[in-house]
Amino acid sequence: MAGTGADGGFGGEHEAAAFVLDEIFGYLHSAALRAAAALNLADHLRDGPRTVGELAELTGCAALAIHRVLRLLATRGLFSEQEPGRFRLTPPAAALCTTSPVSVREAVLMMTEPAMWRSAGEVVDSARDATPSFDRIFGMSLFEYYARDPEAAAGFNDGMAAFSRVENAPVAAACEIPEDATVVDVGGGRGGLLLEVLRRNPSARGILFDLAHVLEGGRPAPEPGPAERLRSVAGDFLTGVPVGDVVLLKRILHDWDDATCVRILRNCRDALRPGGHLLVFDAVLAEGDEPQQAKALDLLMMTVLPGHERTEAQFRDLFRAADLTLRSITHVHAMPVSVLKVVPSP
Ligand SMILES: C[S@@+](CC[C@H](N)C(=O)[O-])C[C@H]1O[C@@H](n2cnc3c(N)ncnc32)[C@H](O)[C@@H]1O
Repeated sequence: MAGTGADGGFGGEHEAAAFVLDEIFGYLHSAALRAAAALNLADHLRDGPRTVGELAELTGCAALAIHRVLRLLATRGLFSEQEPGRFRLTPPAAALCTTSPVSVREAVLMMTEPAMWRSAGEVVDSARDATPSFDRIFGMSLFEYYARDPEAAAGFNDGMAAFSRVENAPVAAACEIPEDATVVDVGGGRGGLLLEVLRRNPSARGILFDLAHVLEGGRPAPEPGPAERLRSVAGDFLTGVPVGDVVLLKRILHDWDDATCVRILRNCRDALRPGGHLLVFDAVLAEGDEPQQAKALDLLMMTVLPGHERTEAQFRDLFRAADLTLRSITHVHAMPVSVLKVVPSP
């Protein structure tokens, strides 16, 4: 008769199978997070708890739908059901507020937008063809898509800036910048990292380098001090990059295949003044089963771009192929990216 043992008599395999069934639902957490971000639920709870009825009125949604979204998120520590049908913010949910200095709302919207979501949904095709499913679904590459669609591009660039807002200060603190250096941020997007580097290094000057449409879409807000030492230069890093003493490459190499990375790295190497160095900011993949955000991001890369996340050994090979040498790796506490200092090979 079943049901007599400590495991109910059904054995570990039932439990293991139930575990897999539970894993299926991970994508619905992302879907609920998207709903919360899109409907600005965190902003509506900023001044105190509200009922789902009040939130429904503020968002133009059904109260029951709001309840279902928040109830799921509350199981992950995002929002909390204070009493039946009445929710409050939690510290993680507060990071979804648009007023938070480290607001991640735009990052949530960017990572769950159709370009990413639909591509990830067709991961099997990417695995079979070894090409990003994005290209098949949208008929062009991701960066071509953003070049043609200003609204999608703004969403992507705002999302990247939101990601960076969380990591810029700790990452900039780990950067080695010599006195009076010209720092070139290659593919620097909205310029948040470069501004942080200039804030910390008052004698440095900065060049924000990115595609013309990205720079036109949003320049760093003018502020006295750091922004006065920053100028923007439009161009293509596959062709060449402006000359400087330190070249920053943040979340660039993981977008591209090895051959393209070598091309970008060679252009950066050629742009270095004597004694200069590159600072590469990317995740360094942990070997083995260790959980790591970059392992999920790597799967997204597989479906949207030709790039991938890399292990330390893969980075070393890549740099060697571009006549560069990895000098050091600094892991930034609690951040998904590390700082790789790279110098021209002798
Ligand atoms: C993943 S984002 C990283 C942005 C920024 N470094 C950050 O960490 O927030 C990649 C950046 O590379 C830029 N990019 C893509 N292709 C480029 C090219 N051919 N030349 C210059 N920049 C390019 C994109 O516009 C985008 O800003």
